[in-house]
Amino acid sequence: MAETGETPASRPGLTIDARDGHSAPKWEDEGVMAGTAGDEAAPLVGRAQELNLLTALLDEVATRGQALVLRGEPGIGKSRLLSATARTARERGISVLTTTGVQSEAHLPFAGLHQLLRPVRARVAELPVAQRAALDAAFGLTHEVAPEHYRIAMAALDLVSEVAADAPLLVVVEDAQWLDRPTSEVLAFVARRIESDPIIMLAAARDGYPSVLGDAGLPEHRLAGLDDATAGALLDAAAPELPLAARTRVLREAAGNPLALLELPAVAGGPEDGQWVPGGLPLTERLERAFAARVSELPDETRLVTA
Ligand SMILES: Nc1ncnc2c1ncn2[C@@H]1O[C@H](COP(=O)(O)OP(=O)(O)O)[C@@H](O)[C@H]1O
Ligand SMILES: [Mg+2]
Repeated sequence: MAETGETPASRPGLTIDARDGHSAPKWEDEGVMAGTAGDEAAPLVGRAQELNLLTALLDEVATRGQALVLRGEPGIGKSRLLSATARTARERGISVLTTTGVQSEAHLPFAGLHQLLRPVRARVAELPVAQRAALDAAFGLTHEVAPEHYRIAMAALDLVSEVAADAPLLVVVEDAQWLDRPTSEVLAFVARRIESDPIIMLAAARDGYPSVLGDAGLPEHRLAGLDDATAGALLDAAAPELPLAARTRVLREAAGNPLALLELPAVAGGPEDGQWVPGGLPLTERLERAFAARVSELPDETRLVTA
């Protein structure tokens, strides 16, 4: 899995063919597999407990399929942990399939499932005719009315089971809070039925978003901020020249959030520094983007305060 930036623009998504007014996702489009977010500029620090937890799932994959939802605020390190786990998986010969929820595709039925299964589309031929038809219809390849979600979910489950019969499989679901609802339903269905398959499903979801996959009763792990010592180490590696007062401030304001630790030094002590008020960060563009969705969902009065 290539590691790419988190902006939707840099993520190869569905190809929507606008030429003939046909807006169904194309099953056959080419393009690279999407990756999880997280530039790897700074070495991974801390998170030993989480890495152990995730690696333990991989250790057991041959005997037991499991799903886990990783929760936490934006920038807390969900994607980074998923990409580290995906790398370990590949090193062990585990196949990795990935899909990423994107706000702009949240209303496109099965956009997320299409992205997930695209690399294994050839395997659809091995499915029984009815299941193949269900997936083709879901992805707009036939003029058949999309079959009920149950058939699509069954077909998706059978397809990943087929794939996992060759080599164990890690399914990575990024930004699950923005997946289209039918995809979430299918993935929740699959997640509850992989126990006897060599399949691990890891989903990252932001705190505070209701999502079908997040609320499917799957085991969860909530990511807290980095502890003080680890936060200090990350900050010092990223911004070794930061004056002491600014360092103290960044550590306090970031509260262990790695994205904030990496981004705030750029504004601490700079021309915008005067805007620092308790609880109010001068956000960098990247932080603003990371938190933008939350801000736009806040009630108007709150937004005025944060503007
Ligand atoms: N434990 C860590 N050590 C070093 N860098 C980290 C760590 N966790 C996250 N980061 C970095 O912080 C930024 C935000 O992390 P990310 O995984 O994208 O957060 P999330 O997916 O929760 O929004 C990324 O640049 C990532 O590489
Ligand atoms: Mg992320």
